[in-house]
Amino acid sequence: MAIDVILGLQWGDEGKGKIVDYLASSYDMVARFQGGPNAGHTLKFDGKKFVLHTVPSGIFRPGLLNLVGNGVVIDPITLSAEIRELEKAGVDYQDRLLLARKAHLILPTHRYLDAASENAKGKSKIGSTLKGIGPTYMDKTGRNGMRVGDISRSSFKERYLALKEKHMSLLSIYPATAFDLEEEEEKWMESLEVLRKLKHVDGEYFINQALNDGKRILAEGAQGSMLDIDFGTYPFVTSSNTITAGVCIGLGVSPDKIGEVIGITKAYCTRVGSGPFPTEQDNATGERLRAEGGEFGATTGRPRRCGWIDLPQLKYTIMLNGVTQLAITKIDVLNVFDEIEAGTAYQINGQTTKELPYDICGQPIQPVYTAHPGWKQSLEGILDYEDFPDAVKNYLLSMERELGVPITMVSTGPERSKLIVKSRRTAKV
Ligand code: GDP
Ligand code: IMO
Ligand code: MG
Repeated sequence: MAIDVILGLQWGDEGKGKIVDYLASSYDMVARFQGGPNAGHTLKFDGKKFVLHTVPSGIFRPGLLNLVGNGVVIDPITLSAEIRELEKAGVDYQDRLLLARKAHLILPTHRYLDAASENAKGKSKIGSTLKGIGPTYMDKTGRNGMRVGDISRSSFKERYLALKEKHMSLLSIYPATAFDLEEEEEKWMESLEVLRKLKHVDGEYFINQALNDGKRILAEGAQGSMLDIDFGTYPFVTSSNTITAGVCIGLGVSPDKIGEVIGITKAYCTRVGSGPFPTEQDNATGERLRAEGGEFGATTGRPRRCGWIDLPQLKYTIMLNGVTQLAITKIDVLNVFDEIEAGTAYQINGQTTKELPYDICGQPIQPVYTAHPGWKQSLEGILDYEDFPDAVKNYLLSMERELGVPITMVSTGPERSKLIVKSRRTAKV
């Protein structure tokens, strides 16, 4: 069997949690392959709402396995808080939530370092979620990190103290930052007990065995392709590879095992944190999008920056990911607009281009827009793609034409049930 992939094509928060939760019932396993608790994936069903940060979005589907892959960085404190929520909701997770032994651990001092480093950056700060992501991946590539599998080693405490000491000396280069290390350390140690009770697996063997056994697996991305450490709007990015290639690294599967790649994009665009955003509407239109779309971060509560869809940007991330089908979310947010714009090219130094420049952070980029008529009506109750107003279909068709990838799903609301499946290609065998 092949492993299908779902990931965000913009700057995160495209609605990955919602789509994964919807599709999960067609799979045997959902696996997260990168990122950590900087992610906030919202699921709504049966009048309930959950925000997942580390736990894969298949956890609410009975019987389905959920693997936190080696490419993910895990904060025991956040994970145990998520588990408490699952327990409160009566979700049976014990045998279904699996941690890869090679996944790295976020220590309290990683968060401390994240805060101190951001603080020191002043105006040029990244706008990090301050969950310790950057420092943890730095320790991973610096070959200093601690992994899930280390929890059961007798040398664990000793290694923890050595890494903490190293972090403390690093912290001394930064201006003082408020952080209650003692309290956070106490919570961390307690939370480790919760981690110890979960199932730990050699993720790479586990997932390849599952594929050989014919299991259907869905890889769930976090963040978005424009936040990819290599191909995003560097340095305003996260610290992992958020694109399809990250699935191979973050789960231990070979490239020939990748099946369908479902790219998710909002019908407009948002970004939270600093950095370039060519089609941003820092005006009344942006405020309207924020209000209609409830655009406030699921992890930090920060207001999201809003703007129109950016087709050259999407073409770029479709190319990077090998996207085979598109899911469009939050189309309902555009119901109130008379006119909807779509960025179709960029003007840079008097030249028109459809490619993102290397120096995206260092020069003004003026998007060229095409206006589409709005539909000015609710999409409530529409269950079939053909019943969409013509203006919706034309907007989606123009997107499909420009992007060259079929739209197979359109989301019309946050709830699980509000998804119109136009045609869904199934996994390659
Ligand atoms: P993720 O990080 O990609 O999983 O996305 P988030 O959960 O951070 O943000 C997406 C937000 O949009 C959440 O509040 C979802 O409940 C909501 N949402 C998802 N799909 C739709 C949709 O089609 N319409 C509307 N109005 N809201 C949606
Ligand atoms: P999901 O999975 C949106 C952004 C932060 C910041 C930058 C670096 O919910 O889509 P980090 O904490 O990784 O050091 O922050 O990346 N960011 C996200 N933005 N959605 C996310 O995740 C994000 N995870 C990180 O706002 O600009
Ligand atoms: Mg999110």
